[in-house]
Amino acid sequence: MRDHDEIICHCQGITYEEIVNAIHNGANTIEKIGDATEAGITCGSCIEDLEEILEEELSK
Ligand code: FES
Repeated sequence: MRDHDEIICHCQGITYEEIVNAIHNGANTIEKIGDATEAGITCGSCIEDLEEILEEELSK
């Protein structure tokens, strides 16, 4: 289990909770998560985590 306040995207300071909220609001691709939260659009090193969270949420 991840902590809701855990920073997933360090470039933009985007938390796990913000990513999950974006997914619940319809961001069902990495690109859409980036559009909604700005996570993953800078260095890209968090993309793997974003993919993992996306997969987790979409499979619920
Ligand atoms: S850590 Fe997310 S774009 Fe750099």
